[in-house]
Amino acid sequence: MTYESLSAAQLRHSDSIKWNQYDEGVLPMWIADMDFPVAPPILRALHERLERPIGYAPGNDATLVGLLQAKFAAQGLGGLSSEGMHFLPGVVPGLYAAVNGLTAPGEHVVTMTPVYHPFHLAITHLGRKVSSVPLIDGPERWEIDWDALDAACAHTKLLMICHPHNPTGRIWDSGELRRLRELALKHDLYVVSDELHADLRYTSAPFEAFAADPRTQPRTLTLTGPCKAFNTAGLGIGVMATHNTELLERVKTAVSGLMGHPSALSQTMWKAALQEGGPWLAGTVEYLKGNRDLLYTFVQERLPWVQFHVVEATYLAWLDLRGHAEAGDIQNFLLKEGRVAIHNGPIFAPEEQQGEYQGFIRVNFAMPRPMLQEALERMAKALA
Ligand SMILES: Cc1ncc(COP(=O)(O)O)c(C=O)c1O
Repeated sequence: MTYESLSAAQLRHSDSIKWNQYDEGVLPMWIADMDFPVAPPILRALHERLERPIGYAPGNDATLVGLLQAKFAAQGLGGLSSEGMHFLPGVVPGLYAAVNGLTAPGEHVVTMTPVYHPFHLAITHLGRKVSSVPLIDGPERWEIDWDALDAACAHTKLLMICHPHNPTGRIWDSGELRRLRELALKHDLYVVSDELHADLRYTSAPFEAFAADPRTQPRTLTLTGPCKAFNTAGLGIGVMATHNTELLERVKTAVSGLMGHPSALSQTMWKAALQEGGPWLAGTVEYLKGNRDLLYTFVQERLPWVQFHVVEATYLAWLDLRGHAEAGDIQNFLLKEGRVAIHNGPIFAPEEQQGEYQGFIRVNFAMPRPMLQEALERMAKALA
């Protein structure tokens, strides 16, 4: 798979927020879109679908449900029924729906920080309180603070996990998943597990869903969609899946009429991705792995004071630039001096903890490799 020849001029479309948020000449490494074209089997399926009227699509398309049942079963979630799947216009609406349906205003919801910012937005926008447990910067990877998590879980009904974790790129391993499940059982919690990045792993080990242990299945809502792996965020679709159909009904009822329905085109896209997208995905993950390795080698050699742990999944790198004199305004500094746009660390924390993440940045490395090299050179020059 090679995406080398794609240029900024080709990628800068007026309908791409990634490329239009900042001035021409800025290399965008912020929002989580990949700068790669759509997989050919998806394009073919969409073209074919466009030849026919675009009417309402079935709520739970039997083919899509069957493909997802097989996919989930391979991750330890066998036995999911069609009634246990609810299609959504995206994964973020699922985060909001779950908070709305499973907690009451004023209650605490537990997250592990830093985390994809809509986790905290869903909690605070809906009048709930974030109970955030900061991850620990371990010797080799970001780790869970088990004592703090245990303490926070004593005062909540809902634990929201991101697996793989955005922005640290951790895939919670079997031991960690076992301990998370024990906590959920001990404190009688509901768990929302956002597994959207599960197909972007740089390891051959099979992915283990949080709810792979049957004891946790009645209390878990698993969220996923095709948009990260297949770069299709503009055709929003996601699914909320659970073995507990009563729980799902409760969440659906809480947001009844508010969620719309996924479009026929998004369903066509997801079916094509699951049926025929495997080789494209494997090639793209291999390419991303090359980018990931380039990024970390570059940082190690040229910016040795920058702290990081190599991501196990996602095309997002979480870098600690707190050692730099401009760390206090690092996003603007890199934009102005380096002409690169990154995501600023503080947005991944709840308001009261944001100061602790000033100086961290999240970098999206899903771009043509020569462009990544250019962006890194710009950053190194600005930070020199
Ligand atoms: C962990 C996670 N969940 C959800 C989303 C967004 O999903 P959607 O666009 O389907 O709402 C993202 C986007 O980057 C993400 O990283």
